[in-house]
Amino acid sequence: MSNHAKTITAYAALSLDGRIASTSHEFVRWTSREDWDFFQSELSQADVVVVGAHTFLAAKERLEHRNTIVLSRNMHDAYGTVAYCRPEIGAITHALAPYRTVAVIGGSFVYRFFLERALIDVFHITIEPVVLGSGIHFLAADAHCEWYFAHATSKQLNARGTVMITYTRT
Ligand SMILES: NC(=O)c1ccc[n+]([C@@H]2O[C@H](COP(=O)([O-])OP(=O)(O)OC[C@H]3O[C@@H](n4cnc5c(N)ncnc54)[C@H](OP(=O)(O)O)[C@@H]3O)[C@@H](O)[C@H]2O)c1
Repeated sequence: MSNHAKTITAYAALSLDGRIASTSHEFVRWTSREDWDFFQSELSQADVVVVGAHTFLAAKERLEHRNTIVLSRNMHDAYGTVAYCRPEIGAITHALAPYRTVAVIGGSFVYRFFLERALIDVFHITIEPVVLGSGIHFLAADAHCEWYFAHATSKQLNARGTVMITYTRT
C-alpha cells in the first residue's frame, strides 16, 4: 500500500500487563478520561476508521455514524457509513483509496495485520496504570513484527500515571 498523501495512525490503550480488553466483545471502560478525550478528538479528524469485527460489535453505536471499515473474513453488506473488507492487503488498499487520514483502532488482529506489513505511520500507545490479569493481548497470537518506528515521544496524561507514547517513522 502506498502511503503517499495518506496518513495511517493507530491507537491502542494497554493495561500494565499488555492487554487491550478482558474479553473480545466488551466496551472498554478502564481507560482514563484524558486518553478518551484525546482519542475522541483524533477520531473526529479522521476520514475513516479501520476496526476488527469484534471491536466493531463492542462499539457499534459509537462507530456507525463514522466512515468505518470493518475487517472480517465473512462477507457482509455495507450499510450507511459502514463497509466490510477482508483482511487482505489488496482489498484494504482498495477500501482505503478514497481517504487521506486513516485511524486504525484495533483490536489485536487489526494491530497485528497493520504492524506486520509496516503500514502504520504514527502509533499512539497509552499505558494505563491498571492490571487486568487476563484477557486480550495487544497483538493477536503469533505476531511477527519488527518495530520499524524511528522516533518516539512520551507524555504523562494525568497524575494517576497514565502515559502515552507516540511512535513515528521519522
Ligand atoms: N484498549 C484498546 O485500545 C482497544 C482497542 C480496540 C479494541 N479493544 C477491545 O478489544 C476487544 C476486541 O479485540 P480482538 O482482538 O478480540 O478483536 P478484533 O481485532 O477487533 O476483531 C477480530 C476479528 O476481526 C476479524 N479480523 C480482522 N482482521 C483479521 C485478521 N488479520 N485475521 C483474521 N481475522 C481478522 C475476524 O473476524 P471474522 O471472524 O468476522 O473474520 C476476527 O475474529 C474488544 O473487547 C474491544 O473493545 C480495545
